[in-house]
Amino acid sequence: MEVIISDSSKDASMRAARLIAKTVKEKPDAALGLATGGTPLELYRALIAMHKSDGLDFSKVRTFNLDEYIGLPETHEHSYHFFMHENFFKHVNVKPANIHIPNGLAKNVERFCFEYEAQIKAAGGIDVQVLGIGSDGHIGFNEPTSSMASRTRIKTLTPATIEDNARFFNGDKTLVPPHVITMGIGTIMDARTIVMLAFGSNKADAVAKMIEGPITAMVPASALQMHERTKCFTDLPAASKLGHAEYYKWVYSRKPDWQKDS
Ligand code: F6R
Repeated sequence: MEVIISDSSKDASMRAARLIAKTVKEKPDAALGLATGGTPLELYRALIAMHKSDGLDFSKVRTFNLDEYIGLPETHEHSYHFFMHENFFKHVNVKPANIHIPNGLAKNVERFCFEYEAQIKAAGGIDVQVLGIGSDGHIGFNEPTSSMASRTRIKTLTPATIEDNARFFNGDKTLVPPHVITMGIGTIMDARTIVMLAFGSNKADAVAKMIEGPITAMVPASALQMHERTKCFTDLPAASKLGHAEYYKWVYSRKPDWQKDS
């Protein structure tokens, strides 16, 4: 895993945005795996700015979101459909037909999940998957003990994740739906490139375990140690518990410029 420590989450998000922009320029119909939550907001802002000022073109891009709450309609202000529309899609030129987000109201969840996997496959697989990390080490909504080989399926959130996400539900944890549809760890691991973003001191423990701890289902993000091309962009607080932070900075500072955004 390549670890890129930036002075701020804004710098880190800009670096991640440049990598995604390069992918989209080289492959205009790239399939992007997208995440919600607080972490990718600056990344989406940076991509929107590139679209508006430099004409970064998303018209052929296909998108696949990681997850969605079960029971929330697309129009619900806390659904991930709504989040993606408000924070990214309505500001760029992604075609609605090319947007894929798990359907939280699917009548047959199992069939829906099977078809979601088939849609990713039909798109040729995901070129770049954006991820955040939960304070318990989850990726997507693959909570600790999730199978490392899991595919898109229903999951039950842990009380800790419900607590973390209550901030999006006016602080009321009773409003956070306990069930979600999420891509599995196996689904995520199939992406050709993974862009992991981790910001803030509340992620420092999970980041250290993900990068320097043992690979274990207790820390789902540790599966990324087995991924061929994962880039982890952190700010200083999120990197504060890494034992080898100076080494990662040393490595990055010696990379040739042409390699930095790829
Ligand atoms: C969101 C997702 C989650 C979040 C994680 C971090 O689609 O899959 O894994 O990335 O819970 O959330 P934030 O960014 O809000 O700290």
